[in-house]
Amino acid sequence: PCRLVVLISGRGSNLQSIAEACRTRGWPAEIRAVIANRPQAAGLQWAAGHGIPTRVVSHRDHADRAAFDAALAREIDAFEPDYVLLAGFMRILTDGFVGHYAGRLVNIHPSLLPLFPGLETHKQALEAGVQVHGCTVHFVTPRLDHGPIIAQGVVPVLAGDTEAALAERVLTVEHRVYPLVVRWLAEGRVRLDGDRVQVEGCPQRTIGVE
Ligand code: GAR
Repeated sequence: PCRLVVLISGRGSNLQSIAEACRTRGWPAEIRAVIANRPQAAGLQWAAGHGIPTRVVSHRDHADRAAFDAALAREIDAFEPDYVLLAGFMRILTDGFVGHYAGRLVNIHPSLLPLFPGLETHKQALEAGVQVHGCTVHFVTPRLDHGPIIAQGVVPVLAGDTEAALAERVLTVEHRVYPLVVRWLAEGRVRLDGDRVQVEGCPQRTIGVE
């Protein structure tokens, strides 16, 4: 099967959605390890409780980003992954790290990119008054939150929405989109063509819209 390493910083609900998909029979991917930059990341405990190897590479133990990224890459590469998945991993990665995993590094971001890169995406969406919002799974490139888009999940913004309500609605669709993309990757159907993605046999790469 396709070997995955998942990087997290916190809760790990996207990790769980991917891990649960990987447990279904005949699923073509396997999580080899979960690595966190914070020892108290809740997702670590969940992974350990489900028999997935875990590692911590704390950014606090390293003098600068380059040293942290080098240590992180050493841990990742020991598992020889086909893909490295960022799932709520809240550190900015160096160009060197991103280059090392070119075409193999994937992120989920809680907005419909290129709208609302960075942090507080649900707040940004409410302030902008957009009526659709969602999440994006994309290849990571050196420019933050701007890599080639693999798939998007779309949700409505409803009258009276709070940040929390909107975040929860988006999260529901995140949990559908990331496993779907992992399946495509594992089936070898995702092609990176310059800065565009093609998925073999898949004309529609959105979830949540007909
Ligand atoms: C998710 O909403 C994910 O899209 C977001 O953090 C949350 C992690 O939740 N990622 C980013 O903001 C990346 N900059 P989880 O730990 O429960 O998967």
